[in-house]
Amino acid sequence: MKTILDYETVALRDELDAIEIIDQTLLPGTIKTILLKTGEEIWNAIYLLQVRGAPAIGVTAGFGLYLLVKHSDAPTYEAFMEELRQKSDYLNSSRPTAVNLSWALKRMEAHVTAFCDNGSSFDREKVISAMREESEKIKAEDIEVCRKIGEYGLSLIKDGDGLLTHCNAGQLATCKYGTATAPMYLAHEKGYNIKVYCDETRPLLQGARLTAFELHSAGIDTTLLCDNMSASLMKSGAINAIFVGCDRVAANGDAANKIGTSVVATVAKRYGIPFYVCAPTSTIDINTPTGADINIEQRKPEEVTEMWYKERMAPEGVKVYNPAFDVTDNELITGIITEHGILSAPYDESIKKLFE
Ligand code: MRU
Repeated sequence: MKTILDYETVALRDELDAIEIIDQTLLPGTIKTILLKTGEEIWNAIYLLQVRGAPAIGVTAGFGLYLLVKHSDAPTYEAFMEELRQKSDYLNSSRPTAVNLSWALKRMEAHVTAFCDNGSSFDREKVISAMREESEKIKAEDIEVCRKIGEYGLSLIKDGDGLLTHCNAGQLATCKYGTATAPMYLAHEKGYNIKVYCDETRPLLQGARLTAFELHSAGIDTTLLCDNMSASLMKSGAINAIFVGCDRVAANGDAANKIGTSVVATVAKRYGIPFYVCAPTSTIDINTPTGADINIEQRKPEEVTEMWYKERMAPEGVKVYNPAFDVTDNELITGIITEHGILSAPYDESIKKLFE
């Protein structure tokens, strides 16, 4: 039977001049793919979290930038670059925290610049075709990177372990395997009897709607809990390790991830449970010195007061605090799992070394 894991999170449908995504706002009840053709459709899909998760946003941005200049009639390199930068800035404004968005857009632009030898040669058809290849490469690399993160993460898991995760850093946030879920999928493949606990992740319920859905579809022993239940679970001894994803790791190892992650990390420290952040190098931003420099997205109050409820669940006019992410201080992180290995503290040094 076809499950959610048999669908591609993001795919280029070049023949249709479109990106095809699973509309994640409808999951788990309805599995529906939609086509994104215009800049506005791509921007909205990212902003509304129809496609979400740092790596998947990056892949969408790469395909999006290619499609938005695919039919350009710019006569010169300069005119083409101006058009490309304008589209890139527009897409980049859809969400601020996940660095993969700007990372993918910058990578696409750098590829064009290098391909045209800094403007000394310009063949529009060929540049556009090179952009298509580069965008597909970003996607293929994402799959490879997640698999490697899974292999490194697997070395930290034992048969019989109880694992906790927050939000969705799963296949639905990437192009395959996920980051935080990759070690879980590989452990399951290996026949390990693991139990995975998913925080539901208020207010947008990515843990309940997406992570629990994909892990359960894979046949993994999956248990859902409300966010405020994880401390008692950790205290009970049921959790051996925690794996989460991230949206941006600063140069000192502070890591921004879905709101509530830092609470999990703080409680994990209290009970001596290892807390791992899974981060492709595309999510590590060496130009952001510390977590305090990360731009945290603030979202609409209705996500807290009304969404998912039959009727409004808060008094009219009450103020709402709704940041989409928080920053986990580097001292709470046991290891940062990348596709090149597991980084440990002091992170300013291990991250610097990774990029050298
Ligand atoms: O707001 P979202 O759903 O895009 O937030 C997603 C997360 O916080 C993920 O943990 C993160 O992007 C890593 S995905 C591999």
